[in-house]
Amino acid sequence: MGKETNIVYLNGEYLPVEEATISVMDRGFLFGDSVYEVIPVFGGRLLRLEDHLNRLQNSLNRISLDNPNADEGWISIFETLLEKNPGDDRAVYLQVTRGAYPRRDLTIDPQYPATVFAMILQVKEPNLDVVSAGISAITVEDFRWDACDIKSTSLVANVMLKQQAAQANVDDAILIKNGIVTEGTASNVFLVKDGKLITPPTGHQLLPGITRDLVLEIAENSAILVEEREVQETELYEADEIWMTSSTREIAPIIRLNAEDVGAGKAGEMWKRVMDLYQQCKQSLRAGA
Ligand code: PDD
Repeated sequence: MGKETNIVYLNGEYLPVEEATISVMDRGFLFGDSVYEVIPVFGGRLLRLEDHLNRLQNSLNRISLDNPNADEGWISIFETLLEKNPGDDRAVYLQVTRGAYPRRDLTIDPQYPATVFAMILQVKEPNLDVVSAGISAITVEDFRWDACDIKSTSLVANVMLKQQAAQANVDDAILIKNGIVTEGTASNVFLVKDGKLITPPTGHQLLPGITRDLVLEIAENSAILVEEREVQETELYEADEIWMTSSTREIAPIIRLNAEDVGAGKAGEMWKRVMDLYQQCKQSLRAGA
């Protein structure tokens, strides 16, 4: 089989990924001065597109960078990319950097145009048997900054934290700041305790995940009790269930934490219920609802 063509979008052009290049002076490259989004696509339709575009706008506002496109402009880029890169379930990745300046200087100068990049990520439909087998995690000290609500590509701290998990031979890490649970290395965290679903509130310490919102909405529509509140690390060790949520992980049950079983050491009943409702959401998006 031939190599799949990967057509990406860069600054107004659609071109093969090998031909898409940016300047070494790009501030995204030099400083991580850039923001991004990952939007899941089911049956050719973008999940929670409006929420992702709103979050992009918030990230851009926070770093004082103008949005290079109106919503319609973004949608046209995504649709063209989806057409040029056919497939089943996929995700759209987009990134906006502050562009290339002639000199390496932290000062912002709005005369230089942003770099706008987007591509399609091919994602495999998660095998439900594999997902329900659960994942393992450790807790690690969250040493990131007080601006984790910005979906910034400055991700070296997340890379280091994920590496701590890899070195401990587990799948991921739950981040703890001053004894309080923040989020995962690239996901939000939920706990189930005595039939209640608990997750840390949004703020500067974590990314307001779109999957997090969807899970909260599903729970509320199903009369599951929800608490958005500060979560102590110690509550993790008493939890009946722990989940990680993200656009790419969907809802992943954590069954081992710091080498101890979480609850019964397998995916719990609440997870099954909410995961089933989440899959129904995907199906209705595929069906065009
Ligand atoms: N990351 N927290 C962090 C630090 C994240 O990087 C992500 C997602 C989330 C969950 O957000 P959402 O539900 O909107 O995907 C929370 C994406 C998937 C990534 O970096 O690939």
